[in-house]
Amino acid sequence: MQDAGFVRQAFANIADRYVLANHVLSAGTDILWRRTCARHVARLAPQTILDLATGSGDLAVALRDRCPSARILGADFSVPMMRQAQKRPFEPLIAADGLALPLADAAFDAVTVAFGLRNMASWPQALQEMSRVLKPGGWLYVLDFSIPPVPPLDRLYLWYLKRVLPRVAGWITGDRASYEYLASSIEKFPSGSAMERLICDHGFARCESRRLSFGIASLYSAQKAP
Ligand SMILES: C[S@@+](CC[C@H](N)C(=O)[O-])C[C@H]1O[C@@H](n2cnc3c(N)ncnc32)[C@H](O)[C@@H]1O
Repeated sequence: MQDAGFVRQAFANIADRYVLANHVLSAGTDILWRRTCARHVARLAPQTILDLATGSGDLAVALRDRCPSARILGADFSVPMMRQAQKRPFEPLIAADGLALPLADAAFDAVTVAFGLRNMASWPQALQEMSRVLKPGGWLYVLDFSIPPVPPLDRLYLWYLKRVLPRVAGWITGDRASYEYLASSIEKFPSGSAMERLICDHGFARCESRRLSFGIASLYSAQKAP
């Protein structure tokens, strides 16, 4: 769980270079992860989707390609990040804190959150809010980084996160500290069965996880009780 003031400032600092830094640091793999998420969401044929922590809108754009008839709303508490989203052919956007969404109960068929939950000040509160705005039987998709559960890949990945990533991201964005935060936030964020338990304890009936790219990222899907 994170300090909201620090997180807002970090994303304001890197907003202009956020998309470029993502693509360079992941060698483009982040695009494939969001497409995988959008493909899974599209199987449910949702008519209404909330993309929470939409930021630069990368996942919302992937969802638009896969779910052309859905109404998609992007929400984020960082206006500088949403300015990046506004440069794209885009969805309606609202400035909103994921911990207290200004949205009605049971308004959406699906809620998605990519690389966002990890940055929130209270994971339980954010999950309960996501559950509240979902219709009964609606689906949550959480895409985020995780530590590969296989040695020595875990140690190698942590070395990359702590030693290489902040340096390279610092050159691209001019803000090394935000990427040092990224490494520590990934280390603290639960993954696998721990994340499934967290989700099930806060408003969801069942949850499953899929490892992406050997577990560098994970995609969680969970259903609100019908
Ligand atoms: C790493 S970016 C992810 C952006 C986008 N979803 C993507 O796939 O690239 C994380 C986003 O979470 C947003 N965020 C963090 N805490 C939030 C909160 N409590 N409420 C709303 N947005 C939040 C940040 O402003 C930032 O835009």
